[in-house]
Amino acid sequence: MKLWGGRFTKEENALVNQFNASISFDQRFYRQDIRGSIAHVSMLAKQGILTDGEKEQIISGLEGILSDVENGALPIDPDAEDIHSFVEAALISRIGGAGKKLHTGRSRNDQVALDMKLYIRDEIDALDTLLKELLQTLLTLIEDNLETYMPGFTHLQKAQPVTAAHHLGAYFEMFLRDRSRLSDIRKRMNTCPLGAGALAGTTYPLDREYTASLLEFDCATRNSMDSVSDRDYLIELCSAMATIMMHLSRFSEEIILWNSNEYQFVELDDAYSTGSSIMPQKKNPDIAELVRGKTGRVYGALISILTTMKGIPLAYNKDMQEDKELIFDAIDTAKGSLALFTGMLATMKFNRGIMKKSAMNGFTNATDAADYLVNHGVPFRDAHGIVGRLVLYCLDKGISLDDLSLEEYRAVSPVFENDIYEAISLKTCVEKRITLGAPGPSVMKKVIEEYRRLLKA
Ligand code: ARG
Repeated sequence: MKLWGGRFTKEENALVNQFNASISFDQRFYRQDIRGSIAHVSMLAKQGILTDGEKEQIISGLEGILSDVENGALPIDPDAEDIHSFVEAALISRIGGAGKKLHTGRSRNDQVALDMKLYIRDEIDALDTLLKELLQTLLTLIEDNLETYMPGFTHLQKAQPVTAAHHLGAYFEMFLRDRSRLSDIRKRMNTCPLGAGALAGTTYPLDREYTASLLEFDCATRNSMDSVSDRDYLIELCSAMATIMMHLSRFSEEIILWNSNEYQFVELDDAYSTGSSIMPQKKNPDIAELVRGKTGRVYGALISILTTMKGIPLAYNKDMQEDKELIFDAIDTAKGSLALFTGMLATMKFNRGIMKKSAMNGFTNATDAADYLVNHGVPFRDAHGIVGRLVLYCLDKGISLDDLSLEEYRAVSPVFENDIYEAISLKTCVEKRITLGAPGPSVMKKVIEEYRRLLKA
């Protein structure tokens, strides 16, 4: 029997029932739904709309339902229309008459808006915790690899030497921004829709601010039509999660490259790798690949919710029920990806020798050789040309700039002296880059102090 059966003369068609029902997925809301109802009846009693006796009866009934759902004594009925109907029906069957008063001054429209907000608030906090754990893991790696030299790339071509700490620092910044996006969203969404009713509020003398404070919202929403039809915060959250996944995916792509036979910059732990059913030698970076692959699902959720919302007239329409499976899947995907990625990163080993050797090949110190000439009075454009000629010469002989004799240097420009070797050594190239944001360990140490402070805050 439906909550709304009174006006109907026929039973619904079974397919209609199935198509319309949301219990298979909104049963996730049982805790939020019960918590919201307890706040609602507390407010109704404070306002004299229910008696204290009715309130006590309803609350203890709801608490019983909560613990019975939790301990399995009360299985969620798969034939219920949605979680709201299920909880209300269970309450009425347990306490009778008083239970029928629970829905006074409320609609499922403001109820589902509330449940979703309560759920999302907790999930934002869970995502934030996972991001914080990732940042902590990254910070440890940054601290341990201030002098782990590696080539920095542009166009995936070796460009200038950096350190692993500096490279990882770029991701640290990205995930910091991801946290701040989540915190902005949480602030903006933290208003309580309960009491908006179906769309136009109610004639009962509700105290909406009281309900809002019981449920730890900053305040009650100001427009009842917006309250039941706003899903902006889900779109914002999907966008923030899509960005988190994009960051994880870029990072995964690098780890996959670094872990390849060609690079061998890192080795993934056995626990985060998988084998091949046919090729015995294989150890594949499946976790990184899955994180990269799952990014598509989260982008999909963002586009789906945006599209679902774009043609909906005010106020509530059933289209909005579609938000749930999408946001649940996107949250589960983002949380799972963050947790696994952090574990993979924490157990990954850097092959420092190979990374250093790679930084020494590929003329990553060519800019520094040109800067050497500039420091001796040669205009930069000329210096660029001179070093370009030296690079050509080295390529022909299959050597690096460090291998040239002083005579060979001086044959191209007499400005070169014996100190050129030190000036273009990997160590110098990195250590001299000490402007704020550069890889030099001395300046990175200051940045790390700041990272520590930010993580504590
Ligand atoms: N299951 C519905 C949803 O998820 C709850 C709201 C139903 N309201 C209604 N008027 N049918 O959106």
